[in-house]
Amino acid sequence: MVENGIFVVIEGLDGSGKTTQAKILAQRLSETYSTYLTAEPSRGKIGTFIRERCLYEQTRLPIEAEALLFAADRIEHMQTELKPALDQGKLVICDRYLYSSLAYQGSSGLSLDWIKTINARALQPDFSIFLDVSPERVLERLHRKKSVMETMETQRKVREVYLKFVENGELIRVDGDKTREAVADEMYAKVLDLLRPVKGYVS
Ligand SMILES: Nc1ncnc2c1ncn2[C@@H]1O[C@H](COP(=O)(O)OP(=O)(O)OP(=O)(O)O)[C@@H](O)[C@H]1O
Ligand SMILES: [Mg+2]
Repeated sequence: MVENGIFVVIEGLDGSGKTTQAKILAQRLSETYSTYLTAEPSRGKIGTFIRERCLYEQTRLPIEAEALLFAADRIEHMQTELKPALDQGKLVICDRYLYSSLAYQGSSGLSLDWIKTINARALQPDFSIFLDVSPERVLERLHRKKSVMETMETQRKVREVYLKFVENGELIRVDGDKTREAVADEMYAKVLDLLRPVKGYVS
């Protein structure tokens, strides 16, 4: 938790509509709040390395190295973008964050405890939303662009990890299987509900 701004994270499978919805949400919220939209892997040095050299390469790094790179990017992202925006009191929306590491590297065989340990210095989000879409539907949506992390089997395993965090209350589920507009409306309503009790954020 931070003193000032509010930190909202959007999680979900590849192709679940995170980027689409994060943009719509940021636009709607910016009518009332000073909003900052960002994503992971970040635009920093490590995030750029991940996007350019890891996600679409034939040969993958050892899974531990991948997890450490994502954790390192998160620290850089926190120092350069997240903290400064939150310190200015902004409402920060981040497209993927810690739960992506837990779901993806966790479903590849790493222990969730170890992933949590290497991410222990990362800022805790105030709210994390899981945009839930079936693995069949996301693979349909992703017919053009697939990364190394996107087979049906992987998507199923990743979704299972995400759903465990929905069950224990760490993630808030939003049904992403509807039209863009319907999902956007549900997401906006949920976020407003979450913001209502936050001191200084009542509109
Ligand atoms: N509700 C929706 N219904 C149908 N298609 C959608 C919906 N939301 C997004 N799409 C389409 O699905 C594709 C994936 O959406 P988007 O890029 O937002 O997903 P993402 O979760 O950000 O994916 P990635 O993890 O690969 O970044 C895009 O072509 C987008 O236009
Ligand atoms: Mg995206």
